[in-house]
Formats: sequence, C-alpha cells, structure tokens
Amino acid sequence: MGKTAIITGGTSGIGLVGATQVAKAGFDLVLLCRNVEKGEHCKAQIQAQAPDVAIDVVECELDRLASVAQVGRDLAQRYASIELLINNAGTAEMAYSKTEDGVERTFAVNHLAHFVLTHHLLPALKKAGATSGARIVHTASEAHYMADPSFVDDVNWERRKYFVFKAYCDSKLANVLFSNDLAARLEGTGIVSNCFHPGRVATNIWPDQKWYEKLLFGLLKKIYLISPEKGARPMVHLALDPEMANRSGIFFFEMKEKDVKSFARDDQLQAKLWQLSEQLTQSFL
Ligand SMILES: NC(=O)c1ccc[n+]([C@@H]2O[C@H](COP(=O)([O-])OP(=O)(O)OC[C@H]3O[C@@H](n4cnc5c(N)ncnc54)[C@H](OP(=O)(O)O)[C@@H]3O)[C@@H](O)[C@H]2O)c1
Repeated sequence: MGKTAIITGGTSGIGLVGATQVAKAGFDLVLLCRNVEKGEHCKAQIQAQAPDVAIDVVECELDRLASVAQVGRDLAQRYASIELLINNAGTAEMAYSKTEDGVERTFAVNHLAHFVLTHHLLPALKKAGATSGARIVHTASEAHYMADPSFVDDVNWERRKYFVFKAYCDSKLANVLFSNDLAARLEGTGIVSNCFHPGRVATNIWPDQKWYEKLLFGLLKKIYLISPEKGARPMVHLALDPEMANRSGIFFFEMKEKDVKSFARDDQLQAKLWQLSEQLTQSFL
C-alpha cells in the first residue's frame, strides 16, 4: 500500500512546491482546494513530475466549516490510513469580514478550518501512526512573535479595532499553539506535529493590492523576498526527512530549529485555544 498525503493550499506558492516534492517522494496526494479548475491545473503540473502517484483534487472551502467537515468525513471514509497532513493554506484579509459561521475570516481559515480538518483525519493518522508513523506539518510564521496572546478573548475583534497585520499575527500564533498542543496530546501515538516559518516568500498571500502596492511588491520580490522553492524547504524537511520522524513540538525558522515565543508554549493558552476552537466548531466535529 502506498502512503497518502493531504495538503491544504497546494494550489499556490509554498504549498504547490511542497505538494510537488511530497508527490515526487512517492506519496499519493490529495489537494484540498477552493477552485477545482485551478486544482486540476496544479494536479497536471505535479503529475508531470511525479507520474506514478495518484493525485486527487477535492473541493474544500476553508472559510466554510460545513465544507471542511464534509471533506474531512469523506476523506476519513476513503482512506483508512493517512501518513501526512500538511495544514498550509492561509489568508490575510485586508478588510474585516466574518464567515457564514460568524467568525473573523483570517482566524477562521488559518486556524479553525485546520482544527476541524485535523479532527476528522486523526483516526486515519493514528492508524498510520501505529504502523509506519504519521506527521502533521503546520505552516506557521515568524509573525507569531508579534501576536497578542490575549487574542483568544476577542477572536471576532469586538473589543479591538481590526488591522490585517495583527489578525494575521494572531492566527499564526494559533497555528503554533495548535501544533504544540497536538504534539503533547498525540505523544505515544506515532504521530508527530511540527510547524515552521518559511521565510519571507514571494507568493500571493497579500491580495487586493493597489497599483502602487503592486509596484512596491514587485521591487521587494526582486531584492528581498525568497522564492517559493526556497520557502518550501522547511515544509519538505518536516514532512519527509527521516531525521524528523520521531521529533514533535518543534518550530523551524526557515531551515533552523528555533524557540517559539514563550507564550506559544503556554499550556494554559494552548488549552484555552483548544476549548474555544471546540466551542466555535462544535456542530462540525
Ligand atoms: N509568503 C510568506 O512570506 C509567508 C511567510 C510566513 C508564512 N506564510 C504562510 O504560508 C502559507 C502558504 O501561503 P503562501 O505564502 O504560499 O501564499 P499563497 O500563494 O497565497 O497560497 C495560499 C494558499 O491557500 C489557499 N487558500 C486561501 N484561502 C483559502 C480558502 N478560503 N479556502 C481554500 N483555500 C484557501 C490558496 O488557494 P488559491 O490558490 O485558490 O488562492 C492558496 O493555495 C500560509 O499559511 C501563510 O500564512 C507565508
């Protein structure tokens, strides 16, 4: 039996490069994407480099928990065993908005959707964990260093003025907290959970740019930002390197292991986020 990898955000940037490397390493791949046409295009691109693996494109809108839960349940039925889950998709919403589930969109996509997806895939990951081992990789960010740990008390920005940069930093802290919490909860199951900062990468993460922002970003890309190929290296390392098979609860800053901010290792904050996530997603678990 081959190994199976599930990835979110495999249709662009860091995720597309990471998905390609995972397929080239022999994993059958499931690309969860909101735009199936784009997903099929990426599938063809990856398949050209990894002709012997199966690649499935599955529609999944991460800003709709009903969609995430449905996909999670379907995948859990289809795959008895899942060896690799890469929670990578991300957004930075310039303007404040709520999803149909009533949650601020950056937090909903970057954290809550992955909380629900991981929940549904855990039995299949545990099956793999008990035999060949399984890994969960989260694309976090250095942005978590600048987060406000009290964000868990106001994820919908009812008591603060919304600012995209802050919302993004908070959501990336949620990624690190979730990764560390999973690592502790999954000890002894054969599943490891790790996260990373890819570097500052030239991708589409900052949408809705005005013409002068486009100009500035184009310049930044040339002189300052690294390529998605380079940005995906820590993802590939955590997902595939035999050295990382038994190591859990680790944060990589590009290709170096690094300490997370102390509040990202706070057990009470981790537990508070877990509890809040369960409350906000209870009808989808
Ligand atoms: N770029 C950086 O400098 C940087 C630094 C630190 C961390 N990161 C993290 O890296 C991860 C990947 O981002 P990237 O930089 O590679 O950006 P990107 O090129 O914009 O890729 C983002 C991916 O997420 C998907 N996505 C976004 N919203 C979605 C939704 N509602 N439903 C389903 N899929 C959705 C996108 O789908 P579409 O293809 O349909 O748009 C795309 O595949 C993110 O978690 C980001 O926070 C990036």
